[in-house]
Amino acid sequence: MSKVLIIGAGGVGGVVTHKCADDSDTFSEIVLASRTLSRCEKIQSQVRELRGREIEIAQVDADDVAQTVALIKRVQPALVINVALPYQDLPLMDACLEAGVDYLDTANYEPPDEAKFEYKWQWDYQGRFESAGIMALLGSGFDPGVTNVFCAYAQKHLFDEIDYVDILDCNGGDHGHPFATNFNPEINIREITQRGRYWENGEWVEIDPMSQSRMFDFPEVGERKAYLLYHEELESLVKHIDGLKRIRFWMTFGDEYLTHLRVLQNVGMTRIDPVEYEGREIVPIQFLKALLPDPSTLGENYTGKTSIGCLIEGSKDGKPRKVFIYNVCDHEESWKEVRAQAVSYTTGVPTMVGAKMMLTKRWQGNGVFNIEQLDPEPFLEELAVRGLPWHVKEM
Ligand SMILES: NC(=O)c1ccc[n+]([C@@H]2O[C@H](COP(=O)([O-])OP(=O)(O)OC[C@H]3O[C@@H](n4cnc5c(N)ncnc54)[C@H](OP(=O)(O)O)[C@@H]3O)[C@@H](O)[C@H]2O)c1
Repeated sequence: MSKVLIIGAGGVGGVVTHKCADDSDTFSEIVLASRTLSRCEKIQSQVRELRGREIEIAQVDADDVAQTVALIKRVQPALVINVALPYQDLPLMDACLEAGVDYLDTANYEPPDEAKFEYKWQWDYQGRFESAGIMALLGSGFDPGVTNVFCAYAQKHLFDEIDYVDILDCNGGDHGHPFATNFNPEINIREITQRGRYWENGEWVEIDPMSQSRMFDFPEVGERKAYLLYHEELESLVKHIDGLKRIRFWMTFGDEYLTHLRVLQNVGMTRIDPVEYEGREIVPIQFLKALLPDPSTLGENYTGKTSIGCLIEGSKDGKPRKVFIYNVCDHEESWKEVRAQAVSYTTGVPTMVGAKMMLTKRWQGNGVFNIEQLDPEPFLEELAVRGLPWHVKEM
């Protein structure tokens, strides 16, 4: 029985709150806090209506460490779940250190003024978390998150040696808008427009954005074109999966999406530096975010499925082996269950499962951990029970 403080009332925050509310044995009390209280109120009334559970809500600016520390001290949670934005990772880790409470997130830190994401900043907290006797679990979403756990499971059970990993992320759904992003538009567009990068033979290889693509037949979705991107889990998996020769990340995009993105880039709407407009400074990508549909509102008319997994090649018992470990998630089913589309659902369910692993002490330790460093079995068992069944396909 534990009290949890969830920070961030966006698309993912809503799913995490609903899923924690379903498991009152583990999450005996839930507090949801975010920058805009009305977004917490909306989730609070949905949870009451759909699950018959009361949750507490609060307003907080998570960039302000003192405010968060005061909130943590008042609420006294066993764990802080960060599903705000990557910009809040470091202030929230600072607040957890000061208040002496465990921490979990789904995305690594990004400095607001530079589209660069690396674990360096968060790994630097290792010594401080260790000596404070608290735990930070990094990347407990789907990718990073479940994909890392798939790799850990493959290393432990399916392979003697892993040579190649390709993480393949397909959203085969249709939300009916000409252009929208499935999670925070600013974070999403920053991720896609930066240079691509993968790891091969001990080195990082950089390529122009979206300059490499391949077709892949995604289970329950079909053939889709996927583009090579840099994604944060590559950095930690290179450290934690032994003997890797190459690891890459691929994501599918439709032609319509890419055309919109190219035009937005060409006219400067994806810039992250401030520009002067009528006597005041605005950041074009933040203005664009205000114009685009809020990802948490996309769910109602979303159809189709996400199909995400790891294609892993190596050897077992002296023979070559190639498997695809994956999950398929349906947008309409997600909406029915938690009033969210499948991209938020596939992130929020593993967040709740990671939190459960920590609160029930099946995962414990002092310091900063990437999710693949922990035992994959209990997580994967719970993941299937909580709505994300997974499969291993021999290729
Ligand atoms: N690992 C994965 O698979 C995966 C996949 C998708 C997303 N993610 C991550 O999940 C997180 C949430 O994504 P999302 O799609 O839910 O984003 P979102 O819909 O934009 O929600 C973010 C929420 O955080 C709140 N917030 C922002 N700054 C804050 C601050 N300073 N203090 C308190 N609250 C603040 C926002 O408040 P306002 O309402 O006031 O704006 C909003 O409610 C992001 O970090 C994203 O990168 C991970």
